[in-house]
Amino acid sequence: MPDRSPELQHFIEVAGRAFADRAPQGAAQASVRAVFAALEVPAPADPTPGRRRAVCDWLDPVTDPEGVSDPLLAELCGAFRAVEPALTWRQRPGPAPGANAQYREGHANAMIAGPSGLEPRDDVWLGVSLLGPEVRYPDHDHPPEETYLVLTPGRFFQDGTGWFEPGPGGSFYNRPGILHAMAAGASPLLALWALRSETG
Ligand SMILES: [Fe+2]
Repeated sequence: MPDRSPELQHFIEVAGRAFADRAPQGAAQASVRAVFAALEVPAPADPTPGRRRAVCDWLDPVTDPEGVSDPLLAELCGAFRAVEPALTWRQRPGPAPGANAQYREGHANAMIAGPSGLEPRDDVWLGVSLLGPEVRYPDHDHPPEETYLVLTPGRFFQDGTGWFEPGPGGSFYNRPGILHAMAAGASPLLALWALRSETG
């Protein structure tokens, strides 16, 4: 079995507990259980050094555990900070319907475990999105179902539901193929997402 760094192993363990604690009942819980069960088996890590983008300057203030009152979220932020230097932050490619002018330079995504991630694999996608203040992310959809765990303020959109604000520690589920989006207000938005690519 390939080795996994202690930092990544710890992050996955804490993230698994946080998603299990916060994800809504029903499909989200089933999806999160499947994602983290798959992640019990490590895959070989990508040795490429991590790379930040300019917007990542927001990460340090946003993930400072001292500033997070929810103990589980503070633990998650600490575990994330330990693994973050190894992540490659990228701009989302392709068209950006619904996004605003701040979006292109004002966002970055990083895949922790999943395609082109720190731990490249195809069975699950565990990643993170960062939006700078006042950034409106594009409307998008994808076949895998997805559960978000939100670490900051910020608004989210789901087709049929409209805009809502889960708040720090909030979690919600996107069924396969649903149109969705997110937008930061006056402060940055940071959210983890867990996708299961093989829905049974
Ligand atoms: Fe998505």
